[in-house]
Amino acid sequence: MERVQLNRGLFKQSQEIGKRYLLEMDVDRLMAPCYEAAGLKPRKKRYGGWEEMEIAGHSLGHWLSAASEMYEATGDVELKHNVEYAVDELAYIQSYDAEGYVSGFKRDCFDEVFTGDFRVDPFGLGGSWVPWYSIEKIFSGLVSAYRLAHSNHAKKVVYKLADWAEKGLKHLTDDQFQQMLICEHGSMCEVMGSIYEITNEKRFLNLAERFYHHKIMDPLKEGQDQLEGKHANTQIPKVIGALKLYKLTQREDYLKIAEFFWDQVVYKRSYVIGGNSNREHFDPIGTENLGILTNETCNTYNMLKLTSDLFEVTQDSRYFDYYERALYNHILASQEPTSGHKTYFVSTEPGHFKVYGTKDESFWCCTGTGMENPARYTRDIYYKTDSDFYVNLFIKSTIYLEDKQMKWIQETEFPYENKTKIVAKEATGDRLSLRVRKPDWIKGTCSVTLNGKSIDPPVEKGYFVIDRYWFNDDTLTLSLPMEVMRYVKRDDTTKQAFLYGPIVLAGLLGKEQFPETDIVPDHLQFNHHPLIEVPNIVTDQSLSDWLHLVDPDTLTFQTDAVGEPGSQILTMIPFFALHHERYTLYWSVYDRDTYRKLVANKAGLNNQENDHYLDTVQLGEQQSEVNHQVESDQSTIGYHDKLNRHYRQAEGGGYFRYTLIGEANQDHELIVTYFKEEEKVSFDMFINNHLVKEMVLNDQSLDQLVKETIQIDSSLLKENGKLTVEFRTKENESTGHISELQLLK
Ligand code: AHR
Ligand code: ZN
Repeated sequence: MERVQLNRGLFKQSQEIGKRYLLEMDVDRLMAPCYEAAGLKPRKKRYGGWEEMEIAGHSLGHWLSAASEMYEATGDVELKHNVEYAVDELAYIQSYDAEGYVSGFKRDCFDEVFTGDFRVDPFGLGGSWVPWYSIEKIFSGLVSAYRLAHSNHAKKVVYKLADWAEKGLKHLTDDQFQQMLICEHGSMCEVMGSIYEITNEKRFLNLAERFYHHKIMDPLKEGQDQLEGKHANTQIPKVIGALKLYKLTQREDYLKIAEFFWDQVVYKRSYVIGGNSNREHFDPIGTENLGILTNETCNTYNMLKLTSDLFEVTQDSRYFDYYERALYNHILASQEPTSGHKTYFVSTEPGHFKVYGTKDESFWCCTGTGMENPARYTRDIYYKTDSDFYVNLFIKSTIYLEDKQMKWIQETEFPYENKTKIVAKEATGDRLSLRVRKPDWIKGTCSVTLNGKSIDPPVEKGYFVIDRYWFNDDTLTLSLPMEVMRYVKRDDTTKQAFLYGPIVLAGLLGKEQFPETDIVPDHLQFNHHPLIEVPNIVTDQSLSDWLHLVDPDTLTFQTDAVGEPGSQILTMIPFFALHHERYTLYWSVYDRDTYRKLVANKAGLNNQENDHYLDTVQLGEQQSEVNHQVESDQSTIGYHDKLNRHYRQAEGGGYFRYTLIGEANQDHELIVTYFKEEEKVSFDMFINNHLVKEMVLNDQSLDQLVKETIQIDSSLLKENGKLTVEFRTKENESTGHISELQLLK
């Protein structure tokens, strides 16, 4: 019923880059894993990075969604043609499986699951890495191809695929099903709900409901936050699924889950840019740990989906206060502005920089959602019901309301100007309640004028309401007064970030010891890259006295000489516009007296030396383990909530091992961090198959961490500097709870 087109500006530019990225993707290469999984010869070589791992095919699914969304947003026929080609190819590959299975990896893992007797852990199922997560992207891509790119063929392919899933899962008992859901499964609940909407077959609604994960969802229903230590991007899509179930069944419980979860994540677990997660997990409430691996971009993609769905149900403006913050400061900020490369994590480590994936060799989860992000800019600027028309975001655009046969043009340079103008076109006296969001960051009063005359409209649920008959060229203007504001870190009031209206400002910190390129295949590559000394802000004045807007065209701000040491003048620009340079979002801010004392104690500088760290494994954490080629048997992972630490442990004859990268011909140190054990345990540690040490852990309490340093002679390393570290138990014994390995030179 509505079509939105972006007009020249920030988002249009980013959308165009995103579109070019999608057009440049080679569908034959994306399709290659699906050919191979079906035992067929691919037309071209598959892409690298994660497309060479068990999760392969997820990128094809994201691309299908992104290309269909982008087609809907721009009408680009080449994209539609490419979508149709991809769907035909999937149909062809699918025709080789009697039951309709198609995806980027072999079906054995699912065949194991369908027997009811299967291996499962939080990121492994039937011996494969998150298979439902990956195949869900193909389900969702096909649904988008049908709904947005109007491919009826996609509907047939997804129907067959859903039929395969439904028939295979039908025989699982409820307990077995819930057991299966321990492993990350993306938006399977939501997409099965969509397949029910498309087909009207009740069995798919039943299946959607079976994908409701009781262990995580039930406490949320009761208003209990048990999210600490949980893998964040595993949970958000489950909640999107619950909200879908609400829309399909009207059961209030489902809505409660989504509302409660959203409040917890947005108000208690997010960073200033609207992202969440630290090393992919939720940290304890009350904390806000900065670091390089914070703000996974997928999570914000998913939070925006959840936010938009919640708005659709509640029409409450607070959802768009968050949406706007996350859209400008995380999503828009996460795409490289000339090539369209995407970020994975967005660092909050002061003095670090953005890291983008390459086009051929990364294919991280966030590359996939990153392809979709710019294709989705048009989706939530407006919202329309029969009688109400909402303006949620101040983005230069035109919307056609087909039922009313009219359009609205929004003219604005926001955030570079502090007003917006909304003009009715081709309107012939239709009645409509125009509802324009009154943002939470407004300073002072907004003035509203209608056809040049000042009006004072009522505000309902955070929206100015102008309910009237609309005629051609009727014009509403709204002023959006912005000021600089301070954001205070939850667990340390001396760490602060600065915003202008909803726009987060980042400090420009130059290119000292900057890598040759920040566009790389491996997202962990710069985890131990040297940091720099970030100036402190030292002042006794109030914010507006020392932070000044010096260039409104670029929103460049400058400080007085408050940067210490050295009385430096600091420059800040919108974080979305900052690329290929070191930055800080969070500053250390002190009054003069406190700073003087800190310097006297030599504690005032943010200086870290970490260039002797070569590699780190966080045991029990999905990405870190996968990146270090975890292998294990008789081994489990867990989370110790007092210490806020994940761990891995093996039992009776079991083992686990990881590959780390050191430097050839160098002696190293390996620091093993483990929990103190209640009872004595002893087990063996091997490096590249050489028994290095019998480890004996013995103490009274599990609630303390211990670090043990092991010297590694250069002769133990392989020629390429790699080393496999293995912990192996003896018969009837177990390893301790091991939490971290750090390799140093
Ligand atoms: O496991 C698949 C995806 O990879 C997760 O959702 C994301 O957090 C991880 O990095
Ligand atoms: Zn991701």
